[in-house]
Amino acid sequence: ITCKLAIIGAGPSGLLLGQLLQQAGIDNVILEKKSAEYVQGRIRAGVLEQGTVDLLREAGVGHRIDMEGIVHEGLELVFDSSRDRIDLKRLTGDGSVMIYGQTEVTRDLMEARRASGGASFYEAEHVQLHDVTGVQPYVTFTHEGQPFRLACEYIAGCDGYHGMSRHCIPKEILTEYERVYPFNWLGLLSDTPPVHHELVYVNHERGFALCSQRSASRSRYYLQVPLTDRLDDWPDSRFWDELKRRLPQSLAERLIIGASLEKSITPLRSYVAEPMQYGKLFLVGDAAHIVPPTGAKGLNLAASDVCTLYRILKKAYHENRVDLIGRYSDIALRRVWKATRFSWFMTSLLHTSVTPDHAAFERKMQRAEFDYYMNSAAGLKSIAENYIGLPYDLVE
Ligand code: FAD
Ligand code: DHB
Repeated sequence: ITCKLAIIGAGPSGLLLGQLLQQAGIDNVILEKKSAEYVQGRIRAGVLEQGTVDLLREAGVGHRIDMEGIVHEGLELVFDSSRDRIDLKRLTGDGSVMIYGQTEVTRDLMEARRASGGASFYEAEHVQLHDVTGVQPYVTFTHEGQPFRLACEYIAGCDGYHGMSRHCIPKEILTEYERVYPFNWLGLLSDTPPVHHELVYVNHERGFALCSQRSASRSRYYLQVPLTDRLDDWPDSRFWDELKRRLPQSLAERLIIGASLEKSITPLRSYVAEPMQYGKLFLVGDAAHIVPPTGAKGLNLAASDVCTLYRILKKAYHENRVDLIGRYSDIALRRVWKATRFSWFMTSLLHTSVTPDHAAFERKMQRAEFDYYMNSAAGLKSIAENYIGLPYDLVE
């Protein structure tokens, strides 16, 4: 088989890049390790920036988002029990975010892929990249027991944090920056109406809590939990009791509980790999960087990487701007580091310290930071403009 671009991974990054390029007449093949059902079933992000929604529209998959997505013009931050609203719309001059689950984004993109006739191999095994710095790179893999060789001009590593693409960059060229946070998130999905019409991020002395949602009848809640806790430690009843204790009374008394549809534990990590390209290989999304989920940036950052690479490849193929190829990493990393900063800032502001030596001092710092940000026009604006998503860098 041959194609212009080989895409490794059919998460949101790979599917969106594939769809945009397919529309631009740049043919591509997607190789995914897992089954389509498995990829579709993973419950992850829920907040889309305007730039992400615009890009999905550009890819021709904006229809269902525009019908079913919920526009949020604000969010709440809570310290102990005092609630402060961040008015995204007013502070950013008409900005907002969209509530629409990653599962739905993936479903829409998978459908568009089928309709476009683009080739995808799910349950592809032993995917290996070859000659990524050569004239003609290629990818080998096994599918249904058959060996394949895919010749291509470029390769997009969209295979997430645990993928193999990043490991094709030699150690002496790749620099990794990492911070692992000393707590996890426990998430619960339920068919219950959200406790509040907007998202609520809570710093409580018992730990962080987040009230999110997928629709008017489906809620997503998260709790900060110790690294040592397992899912078995958290039957639904314990989750709801703990969430109630961390919410201000005005919210706790309105909380409607119900059976969980899904519960999962997520580690929190900041990680950036530099550079995001090597020869003909580009790293996109989680394959190149991980942010802790607190700022809702993971999926959105994947989308902005996709946008940058898409615009570069389109200009390279349609306007012969091959000079742009070498600029992908620099352009993408500027925005990556800003989102990494914001996610780290939100994580530090909202989680309780687990190091007893510093806990009392850190809590004072958090309170001072809260007081400052919530009572400063500049502070509020800074949180608002980062939350709705910083502008995309131009490719020209
Ligand atoms: P992925 O979605 O990870 O997709 C990569 C794909 O590559 C996968 O389908 C994988 O199976 C495939 N793959 C891996 N290795 C290979 C291989 N060798 N060959 C072929 N295919 C391969 N973000 C938020 O904004 N909010 C959240 O609440 C949130 N929660 C999260 C919870 C969890 C448990 C995780 C893991 C992530 C969460 N994220 C969240 C982050 C967000 O989901 C990711 O940023 C987003 O999925 C990135 O998309 P991606 O396509 O780059 O990577
Ligand atoms: C969700 C996840 C986040 O990390 C976040 O900041 C907001 C919402 C969610 O899954 O709904």
